[in-house]
Amino acid sequence: MAPTATLAPFFLPMSLTLRSGCKVNLLLNILGKRSDGFHELETLLHPVGLYDELSFSVADRGVQFTCSDPSLPLDGSNLVVKAANSFSARCGRAGARIHLHKRIPAAAGLGGGSGNAATTLLGLNELFGRPLTDAALVEIAAGLGSDVPFFLRSKPALGLGRGEKVTVLDPFSCLSGVWIVLVRPNFGVSTPWAYQELVKYPVALNGRPGRASELIATLRSGDLSRACGLLYNSLEAPVLAKYPLLEVFQEFFLHHQALVSLMSGSGSTTFALFDGETAAQRAVKAIPAKFGDTNWITAVPLVAS
Ligand code: C5P
Repeated sequence: MAPTATLAPFFLPMSLTLRSGCKVNLLLNILGKRSDGFHELETLLHPVGLYDELSFSVADRGVQFTCSDPSLPLDGSNLVVKAANSFSARCGRAGARIHLHKRIPAAAGLGGGSGNAATTLLGLNELFGRPLTDAALVEIAAGLGSDVPFFLRSKPALGLGRGEKVTVLDPFSCLSGVWIVLVRPNFGVSTPWAYQELVKYPVALNGRPGRASELIATLRSGDLSRACGLLYNSLEAPVLAKYPLLEVFQEFFLHHQALVSLMSGSGSTTFALFDGETAAQRAVKAIPAKFGDTNWITAVPLVAS
């Protein structure tokens, strides 16, 4: 969907609608705990073509935020409101009405909330005539959350540091034609909890550096089957131990011709890659018979056309 805008004199939009995407981590390799409490990591982030929608319009003053999902907070704890407040603190104007139409599940390891924060920064910057530079947006985004800078571009990217130091990568041609199936059970996982639990899993806490460059080089070489063997997520150690269902999802996908299956981010979404739509849809159809119908399930091409 293309962004829509209503134009006012001087060609500043009075209102604007943008889509706000999500991601999976093809790799999330934690390298150790830092003195600031965060974890140093290397991650390969890949956008997924599933979208929330954010609408922005100019208001006299303050931020008026509404959301289609009544379970989400509307106050300053919502990343959309945090992003709007950070934007106005930086450039002194953000009287705006913002509406979020939510489709991406929360606490799912898909970065939906981080995407909403980044899209809010992009939307307000557009609405007010681009007062902030790209560098300023990146700086504000990093202060809002480790995954937020990635969503300013939503391109395949290497994330370093705590995940906020993003290098955009060229698309991997061997992934075109690959379909991704996502299943999110009817519970979420707390990201801080998952990271804190790592202390019980020293091997996962202190991953071997270099996995990211190895995976990127293999994807670039076009050897998809070898690349699939290099996908890895350190946070599976604590999360799968507490939620064994997530391991059962992975086994299920592998029995249904998945090339690979892994948890995304801190969970609770499991994703699986398939060679084409037919195999992906066959797996999707088989899920309810085995796992009931309370799971959120979807299948899309990994690389948007
Ligand atoms: O940066 P973000 O707000 O997404 O992080 C949520 C929480 O996840 C942090 O408060 C921290 O507990 C944990 N985290 C971490 N190391 C990272 C990213 C997140 O410990 N690299």
